[in-house]
Amino acid sequence: MKNPPARFRIETPTKNGSSEMTTPGNTQSTDKTAGDLSITDKRTNKNYDLSIKDGAIRAADLRQIKTADRDDVGLLSYDPAFMNTASCRSSITYIDGDKGILRYRGYPIEQLAEKASFLEVAWLLRHGELPNQKEYDGFVHDITYHTYVHENIRNFLQGFRYDAHPMSMLQSSVAALSSFYPEARNIFDPEQRNIAVIRLLAKTPTIAAFSYRHSKGLPVVYPDNSLSYVENFLSMINRMTEPRYEANPTFVRALEILFILHADHEQNCSTSSVRMVGSSHVDPFSAMSAGVAALFGPLHGGANEQVLRMIEEIGTIQNVPAFIETVKSGSGKLMGFGHRVYKSYDPRAKIVKQLADSVFKITGVDRGLEIALELERIALQDDYFVSRKLYPNVDFYTGLIYRSMGFPTEFFTVLFAIARMAGWLSQWEEMLLDKEQKIARPRQIFTGHGERQFKQTINVGIK
Ligand code: ACO
Repeated sequence: MKNPPARFRIETPTKNGSSEMTTPGNTQSTDKTAGDLSITDKRTNKNYDLSIKDGAIRAADLRQIKTADRDDVGLLSYDPAFMNTASCRSSITYIDGDKGILRYRGYPIEQLAEKASFLEVAWLLRHGELPNQKEYDGFVHDITYHTYVHENIRNFLQGFRYDAHPMSMLQSSVAALSSFYPEARNIFDPEQRNIAVIRLLAKTPTIAAFSYRHSKGLPVVYPDNSLSYVENFLSMINRMTEPRYEANPTFVRALEILFILHADHEQNCSTSSVRMVGSSHVDPFSAMSAGVAALFGPLHGGANEQVLRMIEEIGTIQNVPAFIETVKSGSGKLMGFGHRVYKSYDPRAKIVKQLADSVFKITGVDRGLEIALELERIALQDDYFVSRKLYPNVDFYTGLIYRSMGFPTEFFTVLFAIARMAGWLSQWEEMLLDKEQKIARPRQIFTGHGERQFKQTINVGIK
Protein backbone atom coordinates (compact mmCIF):
# COMPACT_ATOMS: atom_id res chain seq x y z
CA MET A 1 0.00 0.00 0.00
CA LYS A 2 1.31 3.45 -0.88
CA ASN A 3 -0.35 5.30 1.97
CA PRO A 4 1.55 5.50 5.21
CA PRO A 5 0.10 3.54 8.12
CA ALA A 6 -2.14 6.02 9.84
CA ARG A 7 -4.76 6.60 12.49
CA PHE A 8 -8.05 8.43 12.51
CA ARG A 9 -9.61 10.02 15.48
CA ILE A 10 -13.37 9.67 15.14
CA GLU A 11 -15.81 11.55 17.30
CA THR A 12 -19.55 11.90 17.22
CA PRO A 13 -20.67 14.93 19.20
CA THR A 14 -23.66 14.10 21.36
CA LYS A 15 -26.31 16.47 22.68
CA ASN A 16 -24.47 17.04 25.98
CA GLY A 17 -21.29 17.83 24.14
CA SER A 18 -19.33 14.66 25.00
CA SER A 19 -18.08 12.26 22.32
CA GLU A 20 -18.94 8.62 21.81
CA MET A 21 -18.55 5.95 19.18
CA THR A 22 -21.73 5.00 17.35
CA THR A 23 -22.77 1.88 15.50
CA PRO A 24 -25.44 1.75 12.82
CA GLY A 25 -28.60 0.90 14.62
CA ASN A 26 -32.32 0.83 14.31
CA THR A 27 -33.28 2.53 11.04
CA GLN A 28 -37.01 2.01 11.27
CA SER A 29 -38.38 5.10 12.99
CA THR A 30 -37.62 8.78 13.61
CA ASP A 31 -33.94 9.35 13.36
CA LYS A 32 -32.56 9.69 16.88
CA THR A 33 -29.09 8.95 15.60
CA ALA A 34 -28.78 11.85 13.16
CA GLY A 35 -25.81 14.15 13.63
CA ASP A 36 -22.33 14.82 12.44
CA LEU A 37 -19.24 12.68 12.62
CA SER A 38 -16.05 14.63 13.03
CA ILE A 39 -12.95 12.88 11.70
CA THR A 40 -9.34 13.95 11.99
CA ASP A 41 -7.03 12.33 9.48
CA LYS A 42 -3.77 12.13 11.36
CA ARG A 43 -1.87 11.57 8.13
CA THR A 44 -2.71 15.07 6.97
CA ASN A 45 -4.09 16.68 10.13
CA LYS A 46 -7.18 17.62 8.17
CA ASN A 47 -10.65 17.56 9.71
CA TYR A 48 -13.80 16.33 8.05
CA ASP A 49 -17.43 16.47 9.10
CA LEU A 50 -19.57 13.65 7.78
CA SER A 51 -23.34 13.50 8.21
CA ILE A 52 -24.87 10.64 10.12
CA LYS A 53 -28.36 9.69 9.04
CA ASP A 54 -30.27 6.66 10.26
CA GLY A 55 -27.23 5.56 12.22
CA ALA A 56 -25.01 5.43 9.16
CA ILE A 57 -22.50 7.52 7.30
CA ARG A 58 -22.32 7.38 3.52
CA ALA A 59 -19.29 5.37 2.52
CA ALA A 60 -18.94 7.65 -0.54
CA ASP A 61 -18.38 10.60 1.84
CA LEU A 62 -15.14 8.94 2.90
CA ARG A 63 -13.68 9.47 -0.56
CA GLN A 64 -12.93 13.13 0.13
CA ILE A 65 -10.44 11.93 2.75
CA LYS A 66 -7.13 11.59 0.94
CA THR A 67 -3.44 12.17 1.23
CA ALA A 68 -1.40 14.39 -1.08
CA ASP A 69 -0.39 11.26 -3.05
CA ARG A 70 -1.74 11.72 -6.60
CA ASP A 71 -2.66 8.03 -6.79
CA ASP A 72 -4.77 8.19 -3.65
CA VAL A 73 -8.38 7.94 -4.83
CA GLY A 74 -9.75 8.54 -1.35
CA LEU A 75 -10.62 6.46 1.64
CA LEU A 76 -12.53 3.22 1.12
CA SER A 77 -14.39 1.26 3.75
CA TYR A 78 -13.31 -2.39 3.78
CA ASP A 79 -16.08 -4.76 4.78
CA PRO A 80 -15.71 -8.36 3.57
CA ALA A 81 -19.02 -10.23 3.86
CA PHE A 82 -20.84 -6.93 4.49
CA MET A 83 -20.58 -7.34 8.24
CA ASN A 84 -21.35 -3.68 8.89
CA THR A 85 -22.54 -2.16 5.65
CA ALA A 86 -26.11 -1.24 4.76
CA SER A 87 -26.53 -1.70 1.02
CA CYS A 88 -30.03 -0.26 0.74
CA ARG A 89 -32.91 1.40 2.51
CA SER A 90 -35.77 -1.01 2.90
CA SER A 91 -39.19 -0.83 4.51
CA ILE A 92 -40.07 -4.52 4.11
CA THR A 93 -38.62 -6.57 6.95
CA TYR A 94 -37.31 -5.47 10.32
CA ILE A 95 -35.05 -7.62 12.47
CA ASP A 96 -33.63 -6.86 15.90
CA GLY A 97 -31.11 -9.64 16.29
CA ASP A 98 -30.38 -8.96 19.96
CA LYS A 99 -34.00 -8.95 21.02
CA GLY A 100 -35.07 -11.75 18.68
CA ILE A 101 -37.63 -9.59 16.83
CA LEU A 102 -38.80 -10.21 13.26
CA ARG A 103 -41.53 -8.13 11.62
CA TYR A 104 -42.84 -7.96 8.07
CA ARG A 105 -44.02 -4.44 7.29
CA GLY A 106 -44.38 -3.85 11.02
CA TYR A 107 -46.41 -6.98 11.80
CA PRO A 108 -44.74 -9.37 14.30
CA ILE A 109 -43.94 -12.74 12.75
CA GLU A 110 -45.72 -14.50 15.62
CA GLN A 111 -49.04 -12.81 14.70
CA LEU A 112 -48.68 -13.48 11.00
CA ALA A 113 -47.83 -17.14 11.66
CA GLU A 114 -50.90 -17.50 13.83
CA LYS A 115 -53.47 -15.64 11.77
CA ALA A 116 -52.40 -14.96 8.18
CA SER A 117 -52.28 -17.01 5.00
CA PHE A 118 -49.07 -17.27 2.98
CA LEU A 119 -50.53 -15.40 0.00
CA GLU A 120 -51.76 -12.65 2.32
CA VAL A 121 -48.18 -12.33 3.59
CA ALA A 122 -46.83 -12.37 0.02
CA TRP A 123 -49.17 -9.46 -0.80
CA LEU A 124 -48.20 -7.64 2.38
CA LEU A 125 -44.48 -7.96 1.65
CA ARG A 126 -44.87 -6.54 -1.84
CA HIS A 127 -47.48 -3.85 -1.28
CA GLY A 128 -46.68 -2.77 2.26
CA GLU A 129 -50.24 -3.18 3.58
CA LEU A 130 -52.50 -6.16 4.14
CA PRO A 131 -54.89 -6.77 1.23
CA ASN A 132 -58.59 -6.01 1.56
CA GLN A 133 -60.94 -8.88 0.71
CA LYS A 134 -61.32 -7.85 -2.94
CA GLU A 135 -57.58 -7.49 -3.42
CA TYR A 136 -56.94 -10.80 -1.72
CA ASP A 137 -59.54 -12.69 -3.75
CA GLY A 138 -58.20 -11.18 -6.98
CA PHE A 139 -54.63 -12.06 -6.02
CA VAL A 140 -55.52 -15.66 -5.11
CA HIS A 141 -57.41 -15.95 -8.40
CA ASP A 142 -54.45 -14.65 -10.42
CA ILE A 143 -51.96 -16.93 -8.68
CA THR A 144 -54.25 -19.94 -9.14
CA TYR A 145 -54.78 -19.11 -12.81
CA HIS A 146 -51.04 -19.01 -13.51
CA THR A 147 -49.94 -22.24 -11.82
CA TYR A 148 -49.54 -24.15 -15.08
CA VAL A 149 -46.13 -24.14 -16.76
CA HIS A 150 -45.44 -24.43 -20.46
CA GLU A 151 -45.15 -28.09 -21.47
CA ASN A 152 -41.60 -27.44 -22.61
CA ILE A 153 -40.65 -26.71 -19.00
CA ARG A 154 -41.91 -30.18 -18.16
CA ASN A 155 -39.84 -31.57 -21.03
CA PHE A 156 -36.87 -29.54 -19.87
CA LEU A 157 -37.14 -31.17 -16.44
CA GLN A 158 -37.22 -34.59 -18.08
CA GLY A 159 -33.69 -33.91 -19.30
CA PHE A 160 -32.24 -34.03 -15.80
CA ARG A 161 -30.68 -37.21 -14.43
CA TYR A 162 -32.87 -39.20 -12.07
CA ASP A 163 -30.70 -38.18 -9.10
CA ALA A 164 -30.38 -34.48 -9.92
CA HIS A 165 -30.68 -32.30 -6.83
CA PRO A 166 -34.10 -30.61 -6.88
CA MET A 167 -32.49 -27.23 -6.12
CA SER A 168 -30.43 -27.53 -9.31
CA MET A 169 -33.60 -28.33 -11.21
CA LEU A 170 -35.47 -25.44 -9.62
CA GLN A 171 -32.66 -22.98 -10.21
CA SER A 172 -32.33 -23.83 -13.90
CA SER A 173 -36.06 -23.97 -14.53
CA VAL A 174 -36.70 -20.59 -12.90
CA ALA A 175 -33.94 -19.17 -15.11
CA ALA A 176 -35.41 -20.97 -18.14
CA LEU A 177 -38.76 -19.23 -17.57
CA SER A 178 -37.13 -16.01 -18.76
CA SER A 179 -36.94 -17.49 -22.26
CA PHE A 180 -40.70 -18.15 -22.20
CA TYR A 181 -41.61 -14.62 -21.12
CA PRO A 182 -39.25 -12.26 -22.96
CA GLU A 183 -41.65 -9.38 -22.31
CA ALA A 184 -40.64 -9.60 -18.64
CA ARG A 185 -37.47 -7.75 -19.62
CA ASN A 186 -39.59 -4.57 -19.58
CA ILE A 187 -38.94 -4.27 -15.88
CA PHE A 188 -40.04 -0.63 -15.66
CA ASP A 189 -43.49 -1.44 -17.02
CA PRO A 190 -45.64 -1.98 -13.89
CA GLU A 191 -47.95 -4.39 -15.72
CA GLN A 192 -45.07 -6.56 -16.85
CA ARG A 193 -43.63 -6.52 -13.36
CA ASN A 194 -46.97 -7.51 -11.89
CA ILE A 195 -47.53 -10.46 -14.21
CA ALA A 196 -43.94 -11.65 -13.72
CA VAL A 197 -44.40 -11.53 -9.93
CA ILE A 198 -47.64 -13.51 -10.22
CA ARG A 199 -46.07 -16.04 -12.57
CA LEU A 200 -43.10 -16.60 -10.30
CA LEU A 201 -45.24 -17.06 -7.18
CA ALA A 202 -47.65 -19.32 -9.06
CA LYS A 203 -45.20 -21.46 -11.01
CA THR A 204 -42.46 -22.04 -8.44
CA PRO A 205 -44.50 -24.66 -6.50
CA THR A 206 -45.40 -26.36 -9.80
CA ILE A 207 -41.77 -26.57 -10.91
CA ALA A 208 -40.76 -27.73 -7.42
CA ALA A 209 -43.40 -30.48 -7.45
CA PHE A 210 -42.49 -31.55 -10.99
CA SER A 211 -38.85 -31.88 -9.96
CA TYR A 212 -39.94 -33.98 -6.96
CA ARG A 213 -41.99 -36.30 -9.20
CA HIS A 214 -39.07 -36.54 -11.61
CA SER A 215 -36.68 -37.65 -8.89
CA LYS A 216 -39.20 -40.29 -7.79
CA GLY A 217 -39.78 -41.48 -11.36
CA LEU A 218 -43.46 -40.59 -11.07
CA PRO A 219 -45.64 -38.87 -13.67
CA VAL A 220 -46.21 -35.20 -12.94
CA VAL A 221 -49.50 -34.11 -11.40
CA TYR A 222 -50.92 -30.97 -12.98
CA PRO A 223 -52.19 -28.15 -10.76
CA ASP A 224 -55.72 -28.41 -9.40
CA ASN A 225 -57.21 -24.93 -9.47
CA SER A 226 -59.93 -25.82 -7.00
CA LEU A 227 -57.35 -26.12 -4.22
CA SER A 228 -55.58 -23.52 -2.09
CA TYR A 229 -51.91 -22.62 -2.74
CA VAL A 230 -50.55 -25.08 -0.18
CA GLU A 231 -53.13 -27.81 -0.83
CA ASN A 232 -52.44 -27.63 -4.54
CA PHE A 233 -48.72 -27.96 -3.91
CA LEU A 234 -49.26 -31.03 -1.71
CA SER A 235 -51.57 -32.46 -4.36
CA MET A 236 -48.89 -32.05 -7.06
CA ILE A 237 -46.43 -33.78 -4.72
CA ASN A 238 -48.53 -36.64 -3.42
CA ARG A 239 -51.53 -37.39 -5.62
CA MET A 240 -51.58 -40.83 -7.19
CA THR A 241 -54.78 -42.35 -8.63
CA GLU A 242 -57.35 -40.50 -6.53
CA PRO A 243 -59.43 -38.00 -8.55
CA ARG A 244 -58.89 -35.21 -5.99
CA TYR A 245 -56.18 -35.05 -3.35
CA GLU A 246 -57.36 -34.43 0.21
CA ALA A 247 -54.42 -33.06 2.18
CA ASN A 248 -54.21 -33.47 5.93
CA PRO A 249 -55.36 -30.07 7.33
CA THR A 250 -52.65 -30.08 10.02
CA PHE A 251 -49.99 -30.55 7.34
CA VAL A 252 -51.54 -27.81 5.23
CA ARG A 253 -51.50 -25.32 8.08
CA ALA A 254 -48.01 -26.39 9.19
CA LEU A 255 -46.61 -25.88 5.70
CA GLU A 256 -48.44 -22.57 5.37
CA ILE A 257 -46.87 -21.38 8.63
CA LEU A 258 -43.42 -22.58 7.53
CA PHE A 259 -43.87 -20.67 4.26
CA ILE A 260 -44.81 -17.54 6.24
CA LEU A 261 -41.76 -17.89 8.51
CA HIS A 262 -39.45 -18.23 5.51
CA ALA A 263 -41.07 -15.58 3.29
CA ASP A 264 -38.52 -12.84 3.89
CA HIS A 265 -35.52 -12.05 6.04
CA GLU A 266 -34.18 -8.68 4.87
CA GLN A 267 -30.71 -8.51 3.28
CA ASN A 268 -29.56 -12.13 3.66
CA CYS A 269 -27.26 -13.84 1.15
CA SER A 270 -29.94 -14.90 -1.36
CA THR A 271 -31.90 -11.63 -1.17
CA SER A 272 -28.73 -9.61 -1.63
CA SER A 273 -27.90 -11.84 -4.61
CA VAL A 274 -31.32 -11.14 -6.12
CA ARG A 275 -30.84 -7.40 -5.58
CA MET A 276 -27.31 -7.48 -6.97
CA VAL A 277 -28.19 -9.46 -10.10
CA GLY A 278 -31.41 -7.47 -10.50
CA SER A 279 -29.44 -4.22 -10.30
CA SER A 280 -28.09 -5.00 -13.77
CA HIS A 281 -31.76 -4.66 -14.92
CA VAL A 282 -31.93 -8.26 -16.03
CA ASP A 283 -35.43 -9.83 -16.15
CA PRO A 284 -36.95 -11.04 -12.84
CA PHE A 285 -36.75 -14.74 -13.74
CA SER A 286 -32.98 -14.51 -14.11
CA ALA A 287 -32.68 -12.45 -10.93
CA MET A 288 -34.79 -14.93 -8.93
CA SER A 289 -32.73 -17.87 -10.17
CA ALA A 290 -29.71 -16.15 -8.56
CA GLY A 291 -31.67 -16.20 -5.30
CA VAL A 292 -32.31 -19.93 -5.65
CA ALA A 293 -28.59 -20.48 -6.34
CA ALA A 294 -27.53 -18.60 -3.21
CA LEU A 295 -30.13 -20.35 -1.08
CA PHE A 296 -28.81 -23.74 -2.16
CA GLY A 297 -25.59 -23.24 -0.16
CA PRO A 298 -25.20 -25.16 3.11
CA LEU A 299 -24.48 -21.99 5.09
CA HIS A 300 -27.81 -20.53 4.00
CA GLY A 301 -31.01 -22.39 2.99
CA GLY A 302 -29.13 -25.63 2.51
CA ALA A 303 -28.62 -25.77 6.28
CA ASN A 304 -31.97 -27.53 6.91
CA GLU A 305 -30.77 -30.42 4.75
CA GLN A 306 -27.41 -30.46 6.54
CA VAL A 307 -29.08 -30.56 9.97
CA LEU A 308 -30.78 -33.84 9.08
CA ARG A 309 -27.57 -35.27 7.66
CA MET A 310 -25.77 -34.26 10.86
CA ILE A 311 -28.44 -35.90 13.03
CA GLU A 312 -28.21 -39.08 10.94
CA GLU A 313 -24.44 -39.04 11.32
CA ILE A 314 -24.66 -38.64 15.12
CA GLY A 315 -26.95 -41.65 15.13
CA THR A 316 -27.77 -41.99 18.83
CA ILE A 317 -28.27 -39.67 21.75
CA GLN A 318 -25.20 -41.17 23.46
CA ASN A 319 -23.00 -39.81 20.67
CA VAL A 320 -24.16 -36.20 21.17
CA PRO A 321 -21.51 -35.11 23.75
CA ALA A 322 -18.69 -36.47 21.57
CA PHE A 323 -20.12 -34.71 18.53
CA ILE A 324 -20.31 -31.40 20.42
CA GLU A 325 -16.66 -31.83 21.34
CA THR A 326 -15.65 -32.30 17.69
CA VAL A 327 -17.52 -29.11 16.79
CA LYS A 328 -15.78 -27.23 19.59
CA SER A 329 -12.40 -28.52 18.42
CA GLY A 330 -13.06 -26.81 15.10
CA SER A 331 -13.91 -29.78 12.88
CA GLY A 332 -17.30 -28.94 11.50
CA LYS A 333 -20.21 -26.83 12.64
CA LEU A 334 -23.34 -27.49 14.57
CA MET A 335 -25.67 -27.04 11.62
CA GLY A 336 -28.87 -25.13 12.33
CA PHE A 337 -27.06 -23.08 14.98
CA GLY A 338 -25.85 -19.52 14.73
CA HIS A 339 -26.96 -16.61 12.66
CA ARG A 340 -25.35 -13.48 11.27
CA VAL A 341 -28.03 -11.25 12.74
CA TYR A 342 -29.76 -13.13 15.56
CA LYS A 343 -27.58 -13.15 18.61
CA SER A 344 -30.37 -14.42 20.79
CA TYR A 345 -32.98 -17.08 20.00
CA ASP A 346 -34.27 -16.90 16.40
CA PRO A 347 -37.99 -16.06 16.85
CA ARG A 348 -38.83 -18.33 13.93
CA ALA A 349 -37.16 -21.29 15.65
CA LYS A 350 -39.51 -20.88 18.63
CA ILE A 351 -42.56 -21.12 16.37
CA VAL A 352 -41.10 -24.05 14.44
CA LYS A 353 -40.52 -25.98 17.67
CA GLN A 354 -44.20 -25.58 18.62
CA LEU A 355 -45.23 -26.53 15.12
CA ALA A 356 -43.20 -29.72 15.35
CA ASP A 357 -45.37 -30.80 18.28
CA SER A 358 -48.57 -30.44 16.26
CA VAL A 359 -47.15 -32.39 13.31
CA PHE A 360 -45.62 -35.12 15.48
CA LYS A 361 -49.03 -35.66 17.14
CA ILE A 362 -50.15 -37.01 13.78
CA THR A 363 -47.02 -38.61 12.42
CA GLY A 364 -45.48 -39.82 15.67
CA VAL A 365 -42.29 -38.27 17.02
CA ASP A 366 -39.48 -38.08 14.47
CA ARG A 367 -36.60 -40.39 15.38
CA GLY A 368 -34.16 -37.48 15.16
CA LEU A 369 -36.02 -35.25 17.63
CA GLU A 370 -34.39 -36.81 20.66
CA ILE A 371 -30.94 -36.10 19.24
CA ALA A 372 -31.91 -32.56 18.23
CA LEU A 373 -33.26 -31.77 21.70
CA GLU A 374 -30.12 -33.15 23.31
CA LEU A 375 -27.88 -31.14 20.97
CA GLU A 376 -29.83 -28.02 21.84
CA ARG A 377 -29.79 -28.78 25.58
CA ILE A 378 -26.03 -29.31 25.70
CA ALA A 379 -25.16 -26.45 23.35
CA LEU A 380 -27.25 -23.93 25.28
CA GLN A 381 -25.30 -24.75 28.45
CA ASP A 382 -21.87 -24.87 26.87
CA ASP A 383 -19.64 -21.84 27.12
CA TYR A 384 -18.39 -22.29 23.53
CA PHE A 385 -21.88 -21.72 22.13
CA VAL A 386 -23.08 -19.31 24.83
CA SER A 387 -20.06 -17.00 24.51
CA ARG A 388 -20.45 -16.90 20.72
CA LYS A 389 -24.20 -16.31 21.04
CA LEU A 390 -25.00 -19.39 18.98
CA TYR A 391 -28.67 -20.38 19.25
CA PRO A 392 -30.86 -22.63 17.12
CA ASN A 393 -31.91 -20.90 13.91
CA VAL A 394 -35.04 -21.51 11.83
CA ASP A 395 -33.46 -24.49 10.14
CA PHE A 396 -32.71 -26.51 13.26
CA TYR A 397 -36.16 -28.10 13.58
CA THR A 398 -37.73 -27.54 10.14
CA GLY A 399 -36.03 -30.59 8.63
CA LEU A 400 -37.57 -32.87 11.25
CA ILE A 401 -41.02 -31.54 10.42
CA TYR A 402 -40.49 -31.87 6.69
CA ARG A 403 -39.22 -35.42 7.11
CA SER A 404 -42.26 -36.35 9.23
CA MET A 405 -44.48 -35.00 6.47
CA GLY A 406 -42.75 -37.33 4.03
CA PHE A 407 -40.44 -34.92 2.18
CA PRO A 408 -37.01 -36.30 1.27
CA THR A 409 -34.01 -34.50 2.77
CA GLU A 410 -32.75 -32.97 -0.49
CA PHE A 411 -36.17 -31.36 -1.00
CA PHE A 412 -36.10 -29.25 2.18
CA THR A 413 -34.34 -26.26 0.64
CA VAL A 414 -36.82 -26.27 -2.24
CA LEU A 415 -39.61 -25.71 0.29
CA PHE A 416 -37.63 -22.76 1.63
CA ALA A 417 -37.22 -21.38 -1.91
CA ILE A 418 -40.97 -21.53 -2.63
CA ALA A 419 -41.59 -19.36 0.41
CA ARG A 420 -38.66 -16.99 -0.06
CA MET A 421 -39.75 -16.22 -3.62
CA ALA A 422 -42.30 -13.83 -2.05
CA GLY A 423 -39.54 -11.92 -0.26
CA TRP A 424 -37.12 -11.92 -3.20
CA LEU A 425 -39.75 -10.47 -5.50
CA SER A 426 -40.69 -7.72 -3.05
CA GLN A 427 -37.06 -6.83 -2.42
CA TRP A 428 -36.28 -6.89 -6.14
CA GLU A 429 -39.10 -4.45 -6.89
CA GLU A 430 -38.15 -2.19 -3.99
CA MET A 431 -34.59 -2.09 -5.35
CA LEU A 432 -35.78 -1.27 -8.88
CA LEU A 433 -37.96 1.60 -7.72
CA ASP A 434 -35.33 3.01 -5.37
CA LYS A 435 -33.93 6.11 -7.09
CA GLU A 436 -30.69 5.83 -5.15
CA GLN A 437 -29.87 2.37 -6.46
CA LYS A 438 -27.54 1.79 -9.40
CA ILE A 439 -25.85 -1.29 -10.76
CA ALA A 440 -24.19 -2.91 -7.74
CA ARG A 441 -20.47 -2.81 -8.02
CA PRO A 442 -18.29 -3.20 -4.92
CA ARG A 443 -14.74 -1.90 -4.76
CA GLN A 444 -11.65 -3.94 -3.96
CA ILE A 445 -8.33 -3.49 -2.24
CA PHE A 446 -5.87 -4.78 -4.80
CA THR A 447 -3.25 -7.08 -3.29
CA GLY A 448 -1.70 -8.56 -6.43
CA HIS A 449 1.44 -7.88 -8.47
CA GLY A 450 2.42 -4.52 -9.84
CA GLU A 451 2.99 -4.40 -13.63
CA ARG A 452 5.26 -7.16 -14.97
CA GLN A 453 6.26 -8.29 -18.45
CA PHE A 454 4.76 -11.37 -20.07
CA LYS A 455 7.33 -14.04 -21.04
CA GLN A 456 6.40 -17.04 -23.17
CA THR A 457 7.21 -20.14 -21.09
CA ILE A 458 4.84 -22.75 -22.56
CA ASN A 459 3.60 -23.56 -26.04
CA VAL A 460 -0.11 -22.70 -26.42
CA GLY A 461 -0.12 -22.86 -30.20
CA ILE A 462 0.02 -19.10 -30.93
CA LYS A 463 2.45 -18.51 -33.80
N1 ACO B 1 -21.29 -24.31 15.03
C1 ACO B 1 -20.10 -24.10 15.66
N2 ACO B 1 -19.47 -22.92 15.69
C2 ACO B 1 -20.04 -21.90 15.04
C3 ACO B 1 -21.28 -22.04 14.37
C4 ACO B 1 -21.91 -23.29 14.39
N3 ACO B 1 -23.08 -23.48 13.78
N4 ACO B 1 -21.63 -20.85 13.82
C5 ACO B 1 -20.64 -20.01 14.13
N5 ACO B 1 -19.69 -20.63 14.87
C6 ACO B 1 -18.50 -20.03 15.47
C7 ACO B 1 -17.47 -19.68 14.40
O1 ACO B 1 -16.57 -20.76 14.18
C8 ACO B 1 -16.80 -18.49 15.03
O2 ACO B 1 -15.96 -18.94 16.04
P1 ACO B 1 -14.55 -18.18 16.33
O3 ACO B 1 -14.93 -16.81 16.79
O4 ACO B 1 -13.88 -19.00 17.37
O5 ACO B 1 -13.82 -18.16 15.02
C9 ACO B 1 -17.94 -17.76 15.73
O6 ACO B 1 -18.90 -18.78 16.04
C10 ACO B 1 -18.59 -16.68 14.90
O7 ACO B 1 -19.09 -17.29 13.71
P2 ACO B 1 -19.04 -16.62 12.29
O8 ACO B 1 -18.78 -17.70 11.27
O9 ACO B 1 -18.13 -15.44 12.30
O10 ACO B 1 -20.52 -16.07 12.17
P3 ACO B 1 -21.21 -15.61 10.84
O11 ACO B 1 -22.17 -14.56 11.23
O12 ACO B 1 -20.21 -15.28 9.79
O13 ACO B 1 -21.96 -16.93 10.33
C11 ACO B 1 -23.60 -18.57 10.01
C12 ACO B 1 -23.32 -17.14 10.48
C13 ACO B 1 -23.10 -18.73 8.54
C14 ACO B 1 -25.12 -18.79 10.01
C15 ACO B 1 -22.89 -19.58 10.93
O14 ACO B 1 -23.38 -19.43 12.25
C16 ACO B 1 -23.07 -21.01 10.46
O15 ACO B 1 -22.30 -21.47 9.61
N6 ACO B 1 -24.08 -21.76 11.01
C17 ACO B 1 -24.34 -23.11 10.55
C18 ACO B 1 -25.06 -23.11 9.23
C19 ACO B 1 -26.52 -22.69 9.39
O16 ACO B 1 -27.24 -23.17 10.24
N7 ACO B 1 -26.93 -21.80 8.48
C20 ACO B 1 -28.33 -21.34 8.43
C21 ACO B 1 -28.42 -19.90 8.77
S1 ACO B 1 -30.10 -19.42 8.81
C22 ACO B 1 -30.50 -19.23 7.22
O17 ACO B 1 -29.71 -18.98 6.33
C23 ACO B 1 -31.88 -19.39 6.90
